[in-house]
Order: sequence, then C-alpha cells, then structure tokens
Amino acid sequence: MIHWAKPFLSGDEEKVLVDAIHSSWISGGPYVTNFEKDFGEIIKSKNVLTNANCTTSLNLALLGLGIGPGDEVIVPDFTFVAPGNTTLQVGAKPVYVDVDKDTWGISPEEIKKAITTKTKAIIAVHLYGNVCEMDKIMEIAKKNNLYVVEDVAEAVFSKYNGKYAGTFGDVGCFSFQAAKTIAMGEGGAVVTDNDDLAAKMKKIMNHGMTSKRYWHDTVGYNYRLTNLQAALGYSQLKKLELILKNRERIYKSYREKLEDVDGITFQFIPKEVEMVACHMPIKIDPKKFKGDRDFLIEKLLEKGIETRPGFYPFSVMPFYNAPKFPIAEDLGANILVLPCFTSLTEQEIDYICKELINLKRDSLKKGLEVPLPEIIDRISITKLKIERVGEPSLQKEMEEYQKALKEFEDRGVKINSEWINELYEANKGIWDLEWDVREVVNSEDVWEEAERRIGFEELGRRLLLVEELMRKRVEIKNKITGQTGSGFKEKKINHCAS
Ligand SMILES: Cc1ncc(COP(=O)(O)O)c(C=O)c1O
Repeated sequence: MIHWAKPFLSGDEEKVLVDAIHSSWISGGPYVTNFEKDFGEIIKSKNVLTNANCTTSLNLALLGLGIGPGDEVIVPDFTFVAPGNTTLQVGAKPVYVDVDKDTWGISPEEIKKAITTKTKAIIAVHLYGNVCEMDKIMEIAKKNNLYVVEDVAEAVFSKYNGKYAGTFGDVGCFSFQAAKTIAMGEGGAVVTDNDDLAAKMKKIMNHGMTSKRYWHDTVGYNYRLTNLQAALGYSQLKKLELILKNRERIYKSYREKLEDVDGITFQFIPKEVEMVACHMPIKIDPKKFKGDRDFLIEKLLEKGIETRPGFYPFSVMPFYNAPKFPIAEDLGANILVLPCFTSLTEQEIDYICKELINLKRDSLKKGLEVPLPEIIDRISITKLKIERVGEPSLQKEMEEYQKALKEFEDRGVKINSEWINELYEANKGIWDLEWDVREVVNSEDVWEEAERRIGFEELGRRLLLVEELMRKRVEIKNKITGQTGSGFKEKKINHCAS
C-alpha cells in the first residue's frame, strides 16, 4: 500500500527517544528547549512556544489575543476544521468567507467584504504548502486594526517574498502531526515576535500559573508538549535539507507527469511563494474521469494507493450553519490529495500517475476507439502533411496525437520511435505515387481521369506499388498491435494515405 502520508523516520529518532527516556525527562525537558531554539532560528521568529498540536496553538493564539464572546473572526470556508472550531471554543463567532479559486487560500477581496465593527481577527490558513496573499492580508488588517493569526499546519518552511510563513501575522500556528513536513506524532507551536503576547500564551498553556508556583490568575490549560515528542522533532530538524529536497522532487515530478492531463488542475502557486509541499492536492474535473472524486479514491485504493479528499467546507456541514460559497464547495467536492511524503519514490509516483490517468474518460476512449497503431499512423501522416502542406492547424492536430501517444506511455506501453518512421516512409511512398493525381483519387471517375493525366501504363505501375505499400502499412500496424497488445488486426486496405 502506498500511503497518502508517512513520517520520515530514518533511524536516528530511536536514538533520541532512548536518550530522552534515559534522561528521565519525559514531560518537559531539554529537547523541548532545543527544538524551540532551532526552529526559531530557522524561521527567524523571536518566540517559539511548542505545545500539544496546531489546534491548541490556534486556541492559544485566540486566547492570547483576548478574542472571545461578542467578537468575530474571519475564517476561510475551505480549510481543515480547526480554525472554525477554535474560534467557537473561545466563544467568538466565525465569519466564513470564500477562498480564491486559484490559490485556494482565503480571498483578500472576500475578507474586505466580511469586516464589521465586531471583527477582531483574520485566520489565514496556508493550505497544502501554498501561502495566502500575505501582503494584501496584512494591509487589510493594518487598515482595519485587526489581528492576523496564521495557520501554518500545512506550510511549515514555506516562504512568501523570502519570509517564512507564520512570521507575518501576530501569531503563527504550526503542526508537527505525523502527516506533516516535520513529524513528532502530535505536536504544535505558536510563534510570535511580541514578547508580551508570548508570555501571556505561555501562562495560558501552563494552567494559567504565574511565576509563583501554584498561583493562578487566569483560566489556563495544559497544552504542553512532551520531551519525547520534541526529541522526534529535534532529530527531524537535523535532516531538514533532505526532507525539503525530497518534497521538492516529489512536487516537481507530479507536476511534470500530470500538468498536461486534461481534467486535472493544480493549485496555483504565486511567484511570491517558495512552497514546501506538505501534501499533493489536485482538482479533478469529474466530467473528464470515469467517476467523481470519491469514485477515484475508491478505485485508487483498489490499486494500493491511499489518497484523501479535500476538506468539506464549513458551509456544507449543517452543524456550522454557514452560508454557501461556490468556490469552497467546488474545491471540497473535487480535490483529491495524492500521496506525498519524503520517502516516496519516483517509481511509486509513476505508478500513481499511471493509475490515475487510467481512470480518465478520454483515455478509455482513445485506448479503445483510437488504437495505438492508428495514432502512430496519424502522427506519421500529419508529419508528412506539415512538411508538404504546412497548414497551421496541423500543428494542433499533431499535439493532440502526441498527447494521446503520451497517454499510452503513461499507461506503461513501450513506444518504439522506429514505428513512426516506418509508417512515415510507407505513407510518403503512397503519397508520392498519388501526388500528381491527388485531387482525383477520391472522385467518382478516378481511373479515367488519372489515366487521362498519367497514361494507362503508368497508372497500372503505380497502383501495384501503392498496393504493396498499403500492405506494408498494415503489416507495420499489426506489428505494433502484436508488440503492445493495443489495437486490432487490420485487414482492410484503404487506398488513400490521408
Ligand atoms: C490547515 C490545518 N490546520 C490545523 C490543523 C490541526 O493540526 P493538529 O492536528 O496539529 O491539531 C491541521 C491538521 O491536520 C490542518 O491541516
């Protein structure tokens, strides 16, 4: 089974865990401090407070910013549930807005429309590794005196204009859950450059205890991370370069293989964003596949490929009582998240892409209605036409055939480039013999007219040669069928190359 996500545990985790156990620091401890220091240095944030998970981080951020009953928080409709739930947990009202149809992140234009006198904060969720339009969001926040909380669960180490996601707003909330870029099992962090806010959040996550032991002056929680979890995170940071390099390789490989597949759209990554692919989402057009997104999930699972759907928007879950948003709804219904994890191999990516393409409606059509030998034949003829007739539309036609050919290759069919040349030579021969009587070969009185033009003997000679080349053409096509298993045994001999 190829899982949709998998932590990169390559051996040294065992060493640090044993070390943490031997040290007897299994609640807080030095790995927590070291991880916070190392992580803060990498992302260039002054205060890093690790805690139980990203959900507790979001909760802490809202509590730390003093958000509560009577306040409104702007939340994207399309996201993992935590930003909505944590807003409800603090007693504030989530005001859901639609996302951008290309980046899938919260839309700055929709944020503007949703602001009221009660609005206190915006939660910008950086989904799947992409980063929201932070320049616009920060400008809106500044103008309207709003806090910005960044949900960086899925965009750990992604950057926007060279700055790490999570360091733009008042608080950045990270996740180190098993499926994320850095995995501790469960784990999270809040980061902020505001020392007072950091001190406040630190107190809240430690039972609300003041510097005087067992003296409390606010409602608090126990949201602390253990030394054991931090040890895992610490060892993950030591191989960060390897993790980032592989995630980049995986993302590029998927894009190369699926970019041109009709019916698949990738999340738009703006030029300002340097993305670390946490997950690998694609949006599918169900009309181009043999079934909808959930059908694809089922069929891929039968092939040993585990995937995930996009998130259900708040607006489709009655519990949240949110107005409908068309983009969020479309993304929720059609996003398919493909496997993406550091140790995913190129062979596995090839296999996943091939199986996905096999589920395309037009690959079925092309595979059965236009067999491979026919496509190769059409390529050879179009090549000939481009050389001799040169109509601009031929180039487009050629691209279509090349695409169809690639679909066969993607399905594992080995294409021999010699086949195109062999068919090209046969078709060229036929073309040459017919060229000067070309306009008449399809007319009713073809023979009389042709004979009138080139004479009886010449016509007879040419007909024999054309017949022979036609037979050759059928032989080549049958050979392709025999070697690839794609196509049909062709018996009929057409007397025209095109
Ligand atoms: C966008 C987003 N926010 C928040 C969370 C919650 O993170 P955690 O599981 O660490 O609480 C997730 C987790 O899957 C997520 O994808």
